[in-house]
Amino acid sequence: MNSAVPPPQLSPELDMDPLWMPFTHNRLFKKNPRIVVQGEGMHYITQDGRKILDGLSGLWCCNAGHRHPRIVEAVQNQLGSLDYAPPFQTMHDRAFELAAKLAAVSPAGMDRVFFTNSGSEAVDTALKIALAYHRAKGDASRFRLIGRARGYHGVGFGGISVGGMVANRKAFAPAMVPGVDHLPHTHDLSQMAFSRGMPTWGAHLADELERMVQLHDASTIAAVIVEPMQGSAGVIVPPQGYLQKLREICTRHGILLIFDEVITGFGRMGHYFASERFGVTPDIITFAKGVNSGMIPLGGAIVRNDIYETFMTGPEHLVEFFHGYTYSGHPLACAAGVAALEVYEEENLMARARQLEPVLEELIHSLRDEPNVVDVRNLGLAAAVELAPRAGEPSKRAMEVFHHCFDHGALVRYTSEIIALGPAPIASTSQLEEIIDLIRQGIRSVA
Ligand SMILES: Cc1ncc(COP(=O)(O)O)c(C=O)c1O
Repeated sequence: MNSAVPPPQLSPELDMDPLWMPFTHNRLFKKNPRIVVQGEGMHYITQDGRKILDGLSGLWCCNAGHRHPRIVEAVQNQLGSLDYAPPFQTMHDRAFELAAKLAAVSPAGMDRVFFTNSGSEAVDTALKIALAYHRAKGDASRFRLIGRARGYHGVGFGGISVGGMVANRKAFAPAMVPGVDHLPHTHDLSQMAFSRGMPTWGAHLADELERMVQLHDASTIAAVIVEPMQGSAGVIVPPQGYLQKLREICTRHGILLIFDEVITGFGRMGHYFASERFGVTPDIITFAKGVNSGMIPLGGAIVRNDIYETFMTGPEHLVEFFHGYTYSGHPLACAAGVAALEVYEEENLMARARQLEPVLEELIHSLRDEPNVVDVRNLGLAAAVELAPRAGEPSKRAMEVFHHCFDHGALVRYTSEIIALGPAPIASTSQLEEIIDLIRQGIRSVA
């Protein structure tokens, strides 16, 4: 830490009761809280002054590290000139500047950007664009949306409807978007355990889309949405050839393909977008998180130019798309985004991510023979270790490994039985070694 500002101290009277924490076991957490008060580079500092190595880029988002000085300065400068401007019928220069920068790094022919504040809003925006696009073309019968089992597309009603995580869906079943269907997930340990990079088995699972077309008829299907690499479900890497097949079937039947790149964008796969890595171009990309290195909430959808043009018909004085947020393209978030994209370029972070990938691969696969490990997998700067569930205590073993790591100095993620890693491309080899050693100790220390 080279910050001039000492870490703030927590008041001993801190009242934790009023805060309802998201996706957290609130009661257990408040008995043994993990509270961070400062971040810099690859580290957090806890309220008791301990240094925590961040193995997850915050939550898959701080890809330039914490409080990168260039991005901090850009936000401070922005505050000095403009705090907020309404994005409906007025706009500010930073939003145009960032949209142009995003168009420059997105796949060819995808140059139109709609801003949101989060990944969830980005997904709902993309789904609405897909439905409205078909309608604008006179194809309003295309109302079905196809997601995938174990998919995570945020927590909006659109996102949980196309999402495939039971816990995120079951309490809200009556409110699901109608007409949604799901492709099978591609995770089968009997076929792909301990794969390095993309598994060779599983491309045929994309053919399920063809079966759905036979069942529902293509004329009723608006879009398919998938994460190119499923992050939240615990790093489920796409089988070789799978995404190409999805693309081919969608194109053949006039179905839009949406890649939800909220996690995979901005370096996680060694490129600005995973579509570049996989050589598959979708029709819409959703993004958030890494777009401004997690500094200020920001997300969005990038669409093919001709999709945008389809909306740009009719009288010019009429609004073309009835959708948007008060904070769509907030000046501070966009200023952070412009600076983050400059940092990614100047510090060569896409290339650094690609150089670090084999290092992370070797390290994570060194956990293969540890107790209760049933799988190890990786792609780009995402990696996971899957543990056998403890009888009668689902996900507790992974939770205990997570606690061990945090208590001994590293932040990782756990979800069901899986420990996941998503370090920033600025990580050093020795920092990755440190994190893997802590996971190893953790796995050994929990029965
Ligand atoms: C693929 C994907 N889509 C959407 C989201 C939701 O993003 P947010 O939490 O910013 O709403 C996430 C969050 O992890 C995600 O991984």
